[in-house]
Amino acid sequence: MGEIMSRGKIERNIAMELVRVTEAAAMSAARYLGRGDKNLVDGAAVSAMRQVLGYIRMDGIVVIGEGEKDEAPMLYIGERIGDGSDLQVDIAVDPIDGTTLVARGLPGAISVVALSAKGTMHCPRQFVYMNKIVTGPEAKDCIDINASVAENLNNIARAKKRKVSELTVVVLDRPRHEPLISDIRGAGARVKLISDGDVSASIDAALPEREVDALMGVGGTPEGVLSAAAIHCIGGGIQCKAWPRDEGERKSAIAAGVDVDKVYKTQDLIDSDDVFFAATGVSSGELLKGVRYFRGGVQTQSIAMRCRSGTIRWIDSWHNFDRLDKLSFFKLH
Ligand code: FBP
Repeated sequence: MGEIMSRGKIERNIAMELVRVTEAAAMSAARYLGRGDKNLVDGAAVSAMRQVLGYIRMDGIVVIGEGEKDEAPMLYIGERIGDGSDLQVDIAVDPIDGTTLVARGLPGAISVVALSAKGTMHCPRQFVYMNKIVTGPEAKDCIDINASVAENLNNIARAKKRKVSELTVVVLDRPRHEPLISDIRGAGARVKLISDGDVSASIDAALPEREVDALMGVGGTPEGVLSAAAIHCIGGGIQCKAWPRDEGERKSAIAAGVDVDKVYKTQDLIDSDDVFFAATGVSSGELLKGVRYFRGGVQTQSIAMRCRSGTIRWIDSWHNFDRLDKLSFFKLH
């Protein structure tokens, strides 16, 4: 492990390599933008992502993936991936966060990968959904998922030295969020509704000087862990709590000894500072531009983060079809 791990730390910035993974997935999926078929979008992204992950010098295990082995042939939970080098890591993938967005040609879909030291990524996957609250570094210590919406917004406003009326909260546009939206409005803050894609929205809420100040509401559990990876790199705050869909889900979690009232903070989801995150835009959104075609190639925009250094990079890339065709194992155009 000498070359890549010393003093127990991962010394190499694997986020730079992960960008190639999310770029490949985004470029493959982008061919199907607006074509109305979610399966084509997802299938293209999964297979490109898996291929490129296989080249990375690591011995990775998929902790968050496309599902259990019997239901997902690629990137299933427990799949070992990488070139087998002696760097043991946990991997979380969401080849497309926002498959419906891509299928419908709507903004805000991204391809996402996170990686951390082996055994440090924890996904409470007994629950399909979690309630989440996310904000940036200034206000990270004053959010509390058990407190009222008004209390959280007052505390975020105080930490950001702003009025509540100058805060914008991003929320998934779902019927389950009607009471939440009414509470945010009641507290006097602005609301931005999105139709899908709460990983990208969480990152946006955690980055400084963006249009949104917080994310609130119920979204996918794996997406919560992926968001936590990015938010840990940014130094922002996230808290999640299980949101059982029905009494059956709640009771079976309790029977399995799971605490349904547990508040998951960053460290409960990713217990390491060796965290790396990359995402590439598929359809243009607030965080990243989508895949754009030009004669003979495409342009992509990605973000790469490393927790230990706190470095966040936006990476614009130009990809040349003719040359890539000679190297590629997946269809780009
Ligand atoms: P997919 O790309 O897997 O469809 O996820 C999109 C998404 O919007 C996530 O970002 C979010 O966490 C989740 O779906 C919300 O789930 P639901 O659409 O069931 O409310």
